[in-house]
Amino acid sequence: MAARAIFLFGLAAAGQAAPSMKDFHRTCQGEKTTPEQLHFNYAGDRGMTISWNTKAKLEFPAVRYGRDRWLDQIAFSEVSVTYPTSTTYSNHVFIDGLEPDTEYSFSVLCADENDHHRFKTSIAPGNPRPYTFAFIGDLGTMGPLGLADYGQEDALSPGEITTMQSLGQFKNQFEFVWHDGDLAYADDWLKEERNGFLPNTTTEGGAAVYEAILNAFYNEMAQNITMDRPYMVGPGNHEANCDNGGSGPYTDSICMEGQTNFTGFRNHFRMPSAQSGGLENFWFSWDSGLVHYIQFNTETDFPDAPDLPGGSGEENAGPFAPNGTQIEWLKRDLASVDRKKTPWIIVAGHRPWYVDDSKCDSCQTAFEPLLLEYGVDIALFGHKHFYERMTPIANNTPDSKGLNNPSAPWYIVNGAAGHYEGLSSVDTPYENYTVKAIDTVYGWSRFTVHNCTHITQDFIASANGTVLDSATLYKNHDGCKF
Ligand SMILES: *[C@@H]1O[C@H](CO)[C@@H](O)[C@H](O)[C@H]1NC(C)=O
Ligand SMILES: *[C@@H]1O[C@H](CO)[C@@H](O)[C@H](O)[C@H]1NC(C)=O
Ligand SMILES: *[C@@H]1O[C@H](CO)[C@@H](O)[C@H](O)[C@H]1NC(C)=O
Ligand SMILES: *[C@@H]1O[C@H](CO)[C@@H](O)[C@H](O)[C@H]1NC(C)=O
Ligand SMILES: *[C@@H]1O[C@H](CO)[C@@H](O)[C@H](O)[C@H]1NC(C)=O
Ligand SMILES: *[C@@H]1O[C@H](CO)[C@@H](O)[C@H](O)[C@H]1NC(C)=O
Ligand SMILES: *[C@@H]1O[C@H](CO)[C@@H](O)[C@H](O)[C@H]1NC(C)=O
Ligand SMILES: [Fe+2]
Repeated sequence: MAARAIFLFGLAAAGQAAPSMKDFHRTCQGEKTTPEQLHFNYAGDRGMTISWNTKAKLEFPAVRYGRDRWLDQIAFSEVSVTYPTSTTYSNHVFIDGLEPDTEYSFSVLCADENDHHRFKTSIAPGNPRPYTFAFIGDLGTMGPLGLADYGQEDALSPGEITTMQSLGQFKNQFEFVWHDGDLAYADDWLKEERNGFLPNTTTEGGAAVYEAILNAFYNEMAQNITMDRPYMVGPGNHEANCDNGGSGPYTDSICMEGQTNFTGFRNHFRMPSAQSGGLENFWFSWDSGLVHYIQFNTETDFPDAPDLPGGSGEENAGPFAPNGTQIEWLKRDLASVDRKKTPWIIVAGHRPWYVDDSKCDSCQTAFEPLLLEYGVDIALFGHKHFYERMTPIANNTPDSKGLNNPSAPWYIVNGAAGHYEGLSSVDTPYENYTVKAIDTVYGWSRFTVHNCTHITQDFIASANGTVLDSATLYKNHDGCKF
């Protein structure tokens, strides 16, 4: 660290106290350091983490930012990381000391001088200002490497507006996007080759296809939405390894080093676990306005988690912390919520246990008791490639109050954003807790936090922006005044 810092300050002109952006710019190497895959996420009440990828390592990833177009401040780090098989480095810069609910302009190192973007910080906890956020699950690469308008089940219609494009169209309505696991579907490369959708390759060639799918996804997302709105993500099974739990005779033994154990996912993001006592991008929390948000991990790190070695998901991944760490964190995090400031608690995990399809029983055993004990209001899931809205429910029994001040959490599954595998079918007859199911449409969820008593969820068809389902939860939160 000391030697690197001396090198950095050696860049600065003699007599200058701190390096200027010009000093950082001397480390740029043309096309090799041109930024791509730009995204950012909330990091504590006054922070934002800016992330982007480059073909070469950056000695000192740096971001210039400011309230107006002069960008008079600089933040930098030494975090430029990669892994075997990756073709890029992920650069991460944490900015702190920002004003809440405020727009900043910024520019990342080695970008064109006029390439300015804007981010808006999270709303201060307790601020009752109404706002909206977008929730998606199971979104993959669009186009010839993923979901296309040919050669697959549930193919797009020619010219159909995708979920990425729909989010772009609606972005002025919402503050941030929450993607609850299964990003890109790079691990479908093998299935895509075996189905004849992509040409067959060797294992090494397959690793290059895997990375190409990841890069395409992050670039498509950047261009459509993640360079404009904070992007919060959680872990899904498709982040775990290169073979999606096995395809035909193939197992994860064909995955090359770097394509197992959530490696790409761990490198690409810096979710706010440092700010919330969580772990990497696996479990963490943040606040915005009247809501405390929690992402938890249904893949590894609890008893009989499906992606653990020997687990039902055959993903052979994790654990990432000593036994019990995630559940103890969740309990501590829930217990520490100040419901006077953030009366609402919304949680998300990838695999559902209330759903008309296979259920994650070990997830229910691990997580449901805590959601009930601490009065979680809303629990969101993906993993199933459809949309399903449940009634509030506890211990398999629907809450008789429905959406009118229930004590049980309201459950919604939405894994309908779209990817190479298309959509799947909701099992019938429905469970007694199912209110609405839609399994033929790609879409996303729009949540509107009106005040401390009302939150509305709309399911939006990506193709035409129509609201296909809408419901409002009423909660009489203790001491609520707004
Ligand atoms: C690719 O491999 C699969 C078997 O894994 C085979 O079924 C398919 O015919 C092959 N495709 C081509 C174009 O060789
Ligand atoms: C936005 O996403 C679509 C796929 O949904 C992609 O084809 C398009 O290239 C992206 N837009 C940009 C500007 O990259
Ligand atoms: C995955 O990575 C974690 C953290 O490095 C490690 O503790 C764990 O053993 C790894 N799991 C597998 C299956 O390799
Ligand atoms: C982890 O702890 C739980 C109880 O807290 C226990 O039931 C389980 O056997 C432990 N698992 C391992 C692998 O030690
Ligand atoms: C709903 O079904 C479950 C079993 O699947 C049952 O235990 C429960 O009592 C039923 N509840 C109602 C209100 O019908
Ligand atoms: C809260 O929002 C709901 C939905 O917009 C509205 O009907 C209700 O009147 C609001 N409550 C207060 C106290 O403003
Ligand atoms: C929008 O698309 C959905 C899903 O395909 C369809 O059910 C609905 O009728 C369409 N609405 C309009 C106004 O075109
Ligand atoms: Fe999944």
